[in-house]
Amino acid sequence: MPEPLTPVTFPTDFLWGCATSAYQIEGAVREGGRTPSIWDTFSHTPGRTAGGDHGDIAVDHYHRYREDVALMADLGLNAYRFSVSWSRVQPTGRGPAVQVGLDFYRRLVDDLLEHGIQPAVTLYHWDLPQELEDAGGWPERETALRFAEYAQLVGDALGDRVQHWITLNEPWCSAFLGYGSGVHAPGRTDPAASLRAAHHLNLGHGLAVSALRSVMPARNQIAVSLNSSVVRPLSQDPADLAAVRRIDDLANGVFHGPMLHGAYPASLLADTASVTDWSFVRDGDLAAAKAPLDALGLNYYTPALVSAAPGKVAGPRADGHGASEHSPWPGADDVLFHQTPGERTEMGWTIDPSGLHELIMRYSREAPGLRLYITENGAAYDDKPDAEGRVHDPERIAYLRAHLAEVERAIADGADVRGYYLWSLMDNFEWAYGYGKRFGAVYVDYATLERTPKSSAHWYGRAARTGELPP
Ligand code: NOJ
Repeated sequence: MPEPLTPVTFPTDFLWGCATSAYQIEGAVREGGRTPSIWDTFSHTPGRTAGGDHGDIAVDHYHRYREDVALMADLGLNAYRFSVSWSRVQPTGRGPAVQVGLDFYRRLVDDLLEHGIQPAVTLYHWDLPQELEDAGGWPERETALRFAEYAQLVGDALGDRVQHWITLNEPWCSAFLGYGSGVHAPGRTDPAASLRAAHHLNLGHGLAVSALRSVMPARNQIAVSLNSSVVRPLSQDPADLAAVRRIDDLANGVFHGPMLHGAYPASLLADTASVTDWSFVRDGDLAAAKAPLDALGLNYYTPALVSAAPGKVAGPRADGHGASEHSPWPGADDVLFHQTPGERTEMGWTIDPSGLHELIMRYSREAPGLRLYITENGAAYDDKPDAEGRVHDPERIAYLRAHLAEVERAIADGADVRGYYLWSLMDNFEWAYGYGKRFGAVYVDYATLERTPKSSAHWYGRAARTGELPP
């Protein structure tokens, strides 16, 4: 007889949060001395975003943060992950901090703490100050040095009250969508530059970790949020398995190699030899990138399904991150991405909760001793208010329930998962897709900016208050 399954509930101190990022929600792009970031420039460049959408107003969180914090408190959440706009704090990417910028985040943090909500600060969620891009951006070493300086300024200002810190959000997107396929800001399409960017993101991360440690209490936890991909083969053919290994290096190893192990995978260096000789990696960089972490943030949406393609594939390619003539996978032009079978969200991303369990278990093994947080997980649906103005989103509830059940299963399997942040608190600017894709637990009417919690927000709030998944 099999052993009866022990019912598992989430740990009592589990963090139940929502996540957002500065450019996607704040608006107020010209207030308080803020200068343009690469996303201001990119979104105002014709043809870059759906419908020419931009974050000038976004959901006006800069002015409505109190309302947003009250909403989270009413729902019963105990954590909130947001990002700091570098351009608000250091408008040129250099020099002393602007007090008005820091004050905004201090007020936000204090308001959260007063409502019993633990803040988690992401220092970089893709909005590089334009001046730093003009000086070369992430492909240049200077940007890594500037990032560490900025991290120290923010750490110094908020380290006494914020315990959860994240250096970079999804550096893969910054490097490979920003400088490779060009579907994200700054929109460059140079495979060698994308690998240089990846390296300087790794270096910037490590330097930022050390800078934060130098100004913050030891109890604070420092992490990075990786969009580590679960990469699966189309068949067991050795060529397809080799394609998985190559994409896994480019999606995952390129960041967790240096950050966790202090080295790039030798196979990655060999695969990309025709793109770059990696001579920009200097002595000491990899040791700096490996600055010890307390936690790891995992962002998960959907797995990738790949196969080997004989010969070079021409024409636009889509891999779930947007179609482009230019591949975000340097040196892997002969790998094909396929749609995983199954139901999809409005982004066209297949729903596969088992991938989240797989990812958690992988990083439990690769990063033993680090606490794990799911720093993003969620789904876009075409939500609309009904005649009474209520927004019912049963698909999102099903999505959340299925994914949270996998988190629970991973905890039962021994993984040290300490929290989960739903992407996103409210509908917002979904980058190149503009406002058309709604990820929020809270509905935003873009004409009035009125917020209405969807049924998923109430469901999730109940989970947060009880520590159990409601039916
Ligand atoms: C990844 C990013 O961190 C976030 O900014 C984005 O909106 C969501 N995933 C959904 O695509």
